[in-house]
Amino acid sequence: MNQVDSADSERIVEAITGILPVLEEFYKFEGPDEAALRCAEWKAKLDVDLPEKGEGLNSVLNDLRDTVIPNGLRNGHPGFSGWVTTSPTTSGTAAHLASAMAGSQRVWVQAFNFLEKVSLRWLAELLGISAQWGATYTSGGSSANLVGLGAARQWAVEQIGVDPSMTGLPDGVEWRIYASAEVHHVVNRAAAVLGIGRRSVVGIPVTSDHVLDINILRQRLAEDAVKGIRPMALVATAGTVNMGTVDPISEMADLAEEYGAWLHIDGAYGMFGRLDDRVRHLYDGIERADSVAADPHKWLAAPLGNGVTFVRDIHILRRTFTLEPASYLEGSAIPDAPRSPFDNFGEAYHDLSVDQSAASRGVAVWAILKEMGIEGIKDRIIRHNSFARLQAELASADPKLELLSTPVLSICCFRYNDGTLSESRLTDLNTRIAADLRAESNYVPSTTMVDGRYAIRPCYINPRNREEDVRGLAKRVRELGDELCHSSQF
Ligand SMILES: Cc1ncc(COP(=O)(O)O)c(C=O)c1O
Repeated sequence: MNQVDSADSERIVEAITGILPVLEEFYKFEGPDEAALRCAEWKAKLDVDLPEKGEGLNSVLNDLRDTVIPNGLRNGHPGFSGWVTTSPTTSGTAAHLASAMAGSQRVWVQAFNFLEKVSLRWLAELLGISAQWGATYTSGGSSANLVGLGAARQWAVEQIGVDPSMTGLPDGVEWRIYASAEVHHVVNRAAAVLGIGRRSVVGIPVTSDHVLDINILRQRLAEDAVKGIRPMALVATAGTVNMGTVDPISEMADLAEEYGAWLHIDGAYGMFGRLDDRVRHLYDGIERADSVAADPHKWLAAPLGNGVTFVRDIHILRRTFTLEPASYLEGSAIPDAPRSPFDNFGEAYHDLSVDQSAASRGVAVWAILKEMGIEGIKDRIIRHNSFARLQAELASADPKLELLSTPVLSICCFRYNDGTLSESRLTDLNTRIAADLRAESNYVPSTTMVDGRYAIRPCYINPRNREEDVRGLAKRVRELGDELCHSSQF
């Protein structure tokens, strides 16, 4: 047995400075993205047997430098507008590294624990959420919605005199969660995990503007009430993943009040959109919600693994997620417990969501907000929303491009359509255009379906997106469409 651990804990500067130039090079995003093309080569290097004898730090650093980083994910490329995700910016990355080393738990009286609190207060102020609300960081939008709906479940079931955190859902009561048909599927999954069931999520059809149809919701709530079905929550999406639309929050708040239901807002993507005065009014009614999910790892470009749930009443969150006192949980509220050196745990975030141990995520948000200020964030949101509008103008102005959705936030859906092809051939053609774009890797949007039509869907949240990337995408879609149409394939 060795008396000295075989893991190095000292050569921090050497290790990190050793990989930094390779990371900086990677972040230039030069040349085509060939990670997928080269995958046989790098998989062969990485897919090796578990070593019996450790190879040491240098071997790890060599692999990171030569094989891993150069074949990483390029969703920070200026032309990347896929999904609702991007690579982090510098201040958040530096803070993330600092928290990995110096804030490796968010508990106890120490600066990282305190910055969770400061950054949550700043975020609430930025998003126009009352300072009286409680909040907690989560690992992302999926868990932020899970935590919000967990609180909704606690509250709704308590209304009939049962504590679901103790006894689960009572027999003989049917519950529903009402959301638009365009709600993100993480909401359905949250319902599954919470024991409510995916089938209990009612997908209310959308209007021609792709927002929840409030009349259908009203009618459905009335019909279900007659049948004795209980509304657990209404979920309004503030920034749908498909098209970036915002559900009628204010009218949903009226219905939530009328039917005694919890109102949850999924603002994982779009909550930050509220900073753009052109669309701010769409968020009216947020102040009447009971919980709000927002994702700093999306539009704020925080390092991935950063979501937030805001809840009007922190006590409900606590009743839902608190860890019961235990002698091994130092600092927990066990009566007559012996005092421990950790009794003052600072802000007890481990009582507010599903994680006990968790990284300090607030420091990255604090760093980003400190660096950019309200003005800087606002500027980004307005710029990105303007990019989507520009995309729409370019699509409308080109006779061979067809605009499929009017941007509300930073998403625009359009396609190549020269007016000669059937619907199914248009789908084939645009699928091929999207695949060619992906292979070229200068412009990488997502795709989706809009009213049954296959669409190219750029979503601008990447801080590195430039106007030339918006123009370049429209131009390249047009060029590829023309080339493919003139070839024998279409
Ligand atoms: C509206 C919305 N909700 C929830 C999610 C899920 O968030 P995450 O991927 O961080 O779990 C997304 C992701 O794009 C989203 O756009």
